[in-house]
Amino acid sequence: MRRNAILLAILLVGLGCSANDWPDGLRRVPGPDDAVGLIPWFSTMHYGLAIQPYKWPVPRPPVEGTVPVTGAEVPLPITPANLPAINAVPNPVERTATSLETGKARYEVYCQPCHGPGGAGDGLVNEKLLVTPSLLTDQAKRYTDGYLHAIVRHGRGIMPAYGDRVPGTDRWDVVNYVRVLQGRTP
Ligand code: HEC
Repeated sequence: MRRNAILLAILLVGLGCSANDWPDGLRRVPGPDDAVGLIPWFSTMHYGLAIQPYKWPVPRPPVEGTVPVTGAEVPLPITPANLPAINAVPNPVERTATSLETGKARYEVYCQPCHGPGGAGDGLVNEKLLVTPSLLTDQAKRYTDGYLHAIVRHGRGIMPAYGDRVPGTDRWDVVNYVRVLQGRTP
């Protein structure tokens, strides 16, 4: 309390000075900032070690070892030129019970309507509208995890993209679950 009163007194004294009393030929009515600037240990704060958020470089680069939480994955739509890179993407999610549980839940919502409960291509939508391939063919079994992941994320041909609805590592969980449907041993 007493300290505030002292500061207030300093400010009022500062404001009470006429323009000519101020250093550097201040030719305007001094404001509170000018008064504060007269007190040496206040002005040194200006050069303190505090972060100067608007100084170059902006935005600041992340510190070394920062782990990105979004945008880490390079988008690789299925094009012939992208195929080698797509196939080289390793599946980072182990086939655990938790992964399969998430994969199954996502599959039932987003894949089953077309590809069917067991992946045979016999979903309800397929009966009426589309010709959905089975996921149990030798061809589908030979696809790499990276390729299945790319299909889920970007779609292919008339299959829509599900990347926005099956986000992040959930897509790998779906891939793991499709492998179970295909009867592949881990
Ligand atoms: C709206 C219907 C529909 C939904 C929903 C759907 N697909 Fe498809 N899917 C298709 C069609 C149609 C194709 C064939 C696309 C083509 O010819 O390129 C296909 C192709 C595929 C293939 C390639 C099969 C092959 O032998 O080449 C895979 C793998 C696949 N889908 C997985 C999935 C997964 C996993 C999901 C859920 C995230 C899913 N699909 C959701 C309709 C669908």
